[in-house]
Amino acid sequence: MATPSLPAAVPATHPAVVITGPRQPLQLLSRPTVPPKDGEALIHVTWTASTPLDLHRADGGLAIGTPPFIMGSSFGGTVVALGGHPGHLSVGDKVVGFVQDGAPDEAGFQTYITLPTWKVSKVPANLTLPEAVTVPCNLVTAFHTITEDLGLELPWPVPKEWAPPRAQERILVWGAASSVGMYVLQVLKHWGYRNVLAVASGKHHELLKELGAKECFDYRNENVVAEILRYLANVEESGSAGRPKVPFFVDCIGSKEGTLRPLSKIAEAGSKVAVMLPVINVHASEGQAPEYEMDVSKVLPGDWAEGVQLRGTRTFFYAKNEFFRDHLQPEIVPALLEQGVVQPNKHRVVEGNTVLERAENALKLLRNQAVSGERLVWRIAEAED
Ligand SMILES: NC(=O)c1ccc[n+]([C@@H]2O[C@H](COP(=O)([O-])OP(=O)(O)OC[C@H]3O[C@@H](n4cnc5c(N)ncnc54)[C@H](OP(=O)(O)O)[C@@H]3O)[C@@H](O)[C@H]2O)c1
Repeated sequence: MATPSLPAAVPATHPAVVITGPRQPLQLLSRPTVPPKDGEALIHVTWTASTPLDLHRADGGLAIGTPPFIMGSSFGGTVVALGGHPGHLSVGDKVVGFVQDGAPDEAGFQTYITLPTWKVSKVPANLTLPEAVTVPCNLVTAFHTITEDLGLELPWPVPKEWAPPRAQERILVWGAASSVGMYVLQVLKHWGYRNVLAVASGKHHELLKELGAKECFDYRNENVVAEILRYLANVEESGSAGRPKVPFFVDCIGSKEGTLRPLSKIAEAGSKVAVMLPVINVHASEGQAPEYEMDVSKVLPGDWAEGVQLRGTRTFFYAKNEFFRDHLQPEIVPALLEQGVVQPNKHRVVEGNTVLERAENALKLLRNQAVSGERLVWRIAEAED
């Protein structure tokens, strides 16, 4: 087989945004551009999305190993070269994807990435790249959480006339206006789960009902737990005797005081609670380093009812499910977007004169908790390709 080579127009090296240490300014690193091998694609990255994970890495040093750590768990761009067996992709396709940040060749905050084609979704014609780049990371998270952590079914293709066996069981999504939450609601709605309760700021409730919530509660109301417990006491039992009123919870935030403590007052024996890791014991701020916990069983021990099943969600392992590895990003994500079943998060374009400035400005917004019901997106390559 011929040794893979780069197309003539592609530079041999390119810049990448890296973390050099916790709470240190981000830096640019020049990296070699890697030609795609069999089953791989080379992508010119023009857009990316910033997520709280970037803050966990940059301020908290969460799992950054020995820096420099190459940032970016999403990318949006154009396929510029393909190795053998390109599968669903062609050169020139507009694409997005969820990748492993820190992996040198595939992390999203660099202008060229080389990665397996199963991590790539073609963007349907009805969406722009800045819209579509809000999707992959947390739509994949939604699938992984619902199937792996809650154990609920999401068959694909959705069988005709399909109704899930547990369609009427309650699923409480705390932090439903987060990016994760909005994709969780939309996936549950499409697959026929009809008894979904959402907890988010009141200003998002109308949208969240459109996305699939049956009832909404406002976590900014200090009596929210009492309100939810009252609601649950008044509604008819949906499960069989002895089952918890809410068998399933998704904690989309993973904040020790902000979400886990209230949830510990609602979950009952038999409830499954999927928590987005890391648990945030202390949120990052300008003057304060964050503190995290990766073992959910160590958070508020003794406060949960006996028999509550806590699960720490880890989406980077989603490809252990071979069906999702082969179908989720190549096929399911583009189909749901094209059919309008899933709408992308609202996006805010983060400006800055350089790629480093944009990366830092996005981190600042995350640090200041200034992100609400939206995803931060920004340009990686300066010029449109
Ligand atoms: N381990 C994994 O597999 C995995 C995967 C994906 C994400 N995550 C983690 O999950 C977390 C959320 O990620 P994201 O991208 O969805 O974040 P995001 O969209 O940036 O989250 C912002 C939203 O959080 C909501 N929020 C903050 N505190 C809240 C509280 N106490 N109760 C309810 N809502 C609250 C706000 O809601 P309002 O606007 O209503 O105020 C805001 O809209 C992050 O820590 C991320 O790292 C983990």
